[in-house]
Amino acid sequence: MSWQRLLLTFVIVAIAGHFSWNEANAEDVEPTGEHAADVSFARDIQPIFQANCQGCHQPAKRGGEYVMTSYESLLAGGESETAAIIPGKPDDSELLIQIVAKDGKAAMPKGKSPLAEAEVALIRKWIEQGAKDDTPDSGRVQYDAEHPPIYEAAPVITSIDYSPNDELLAIAGYHEVLLHRADGSELVGRLIGVSERIEEVAFSPDGKQLAVAGGNPGRMGEVQIWDVEKQKLQLAISVGYDTLYGTSWSPDGKLVAFGCPDNTFRAIEAATGKEVLFNGAHSDWVLDTVFSVKGDHLVTVSRDRSMKLTNVPTQRFIDNITSITPGALSGGIHAVDRHPTKDELLVGGSDGVAKTYKMFRDKARKIGDDFNRLKSFPEMPGRIFAVTYNHDGTHVAAGTSYNGSGEARVFETASAKEIAKFEISAGGVYTVAFDTAGKHLAVAGFDGIVRLFDIEKKALLKEFAPAPIAETPQ
Ligand code: HEC
Repeated sequence: MSWQRLLLTFVIVAIAGHFSWNEANAEDVEPTGEHAADVSFARDIQPIFQANCQGCHQPAKRGGEYVMTSYESLLAGGESETAAIIPGKPDDSELLIQIVAKDGKAAMPKGKSPLAEAEVALIRKWIEQGAKDDTPDSGRVQYDAEHPPIYEAAPVITSIDYSPNDELLAIAGYHEVLLHRADGSELVGRLIGVSERIEEVAFSPDGKQLAVAGGNPGRMGEVQIWDVEKQKLQLAISVGYDTLYGTSWSPDGKLVAFGCPDNTFRAIEAATGKEVLFNGAHSDWVLDTVFSVKGDHLVTVSRDRSMKLTNVPTQRFIDNITSITPGALSGGIHAVDRHPTKDELLVGGSDGVAKTYKMFRDKARKIGDDFNRLKSFPEMPGRIFAVTYNHDGTHVAAGTSYNGSGEARVFETASAKEIAKFEISAGGVYTVAFDTAGKHLAVAGFDGIVRLFDIEKKALLKEFAPAPIAETPQ
């Protein structure tokens, strides 16, 4: 067994065992008896670093050459060449010196408010008690550019996006985003970050940056922003305790919005990570977001079956774009996109019917109406997981999953007529993307294969597994 295969085994054990491990572990470390006051690295300390420090201190982004994602490098320190943590000696530990606030200010986290006093006290105690590492083996797997994830089977693909110049395809992988040439001929980059689960990838309007929403299920949510040309992580911020969804860019490329499983949706400044919008109007997970043409409104869709409109500068909820009458909506809405030049929306969800809506109501609401709806496209089998307009808005595409197989269809926007249908027998479709030229539709999902279709010829051009699969042992 090579070390890679060994690693993979750990990954699988880690994934498979995650929830049960958490439960078992929570019981194991119940503070009882003489260990009542023991601080646990895995349970108490790691989450503080994950939420407040790792965005700037990880292999893909080494603030001060200091990497905090592995225990060894956490203790070792960075460019100062002094140990960050000296077990048993909190007051001589550089890390503690950096986080202790004086006059309400601390050196770290850099540019942010100091950690809560209770958190600093916990870290101090952990160092005092010997700064021990109680991470279970399954939690030790570390990925970076030198140690990329190894795949035994193709990972489920949740999201793909073409760069605006049609040169690249960004594809969500496990622990990374895979950058391929748009024709599928070559893997040109692996953007490896802290999040194991990647839910959505989106190129910025100018194609220079890539926003990524994801996280570690049940532990943290994360937004990453990468410099595409340099393949460098520019920003990583930790949000909440579960994976994030449906990231989108404001048309001016300044803001990045995303949905959260805590029923909120948020937007941050792409340059600084500063949160500029926070709203909790939904009553279930928020799965997708899109800005208005001017960027002053944000549209969100949710498992709560509604599509909501929010004003960006005031962060205020404006309207339910879909009807809110019980029974008028059938199931959660999974995906939303906006027409490239006007404030018209395309949604898809559990009922298998893609629909277009006006973003702004021009008549007062009557109970029971679905007044903003413009068109319903022919019903597709199963649930719709992805919808998208093409570059000039003349066509739309939707992808579905139904009983272990999937389908992608292209419709004409104005007439709602079906133009092409692509059936995938190997598994559900979770993501669809038009190239900018409007000739090709990229389709991917459960089976981990990207399929590129020629829309006019209704033909499969190419299929490829974007993640490098390890060869199976003899
Ligand atoms: C916004 C980015 C950012 C965040 C967040 C951040 N750091 Fe830093 N950190 C840096 C940079 C950049 C440096 C290099 C020195 C400098 O520029 O001040 C650094 C340096 C350090 C150093 C010195 C390393 C050495 O040996 O030179 C320590 C220790 C440190 N950070 C700890 C932390 C801890 C602990 C947290 C979380 C509580 C944290 N940092 C959060 C950016 C950040």
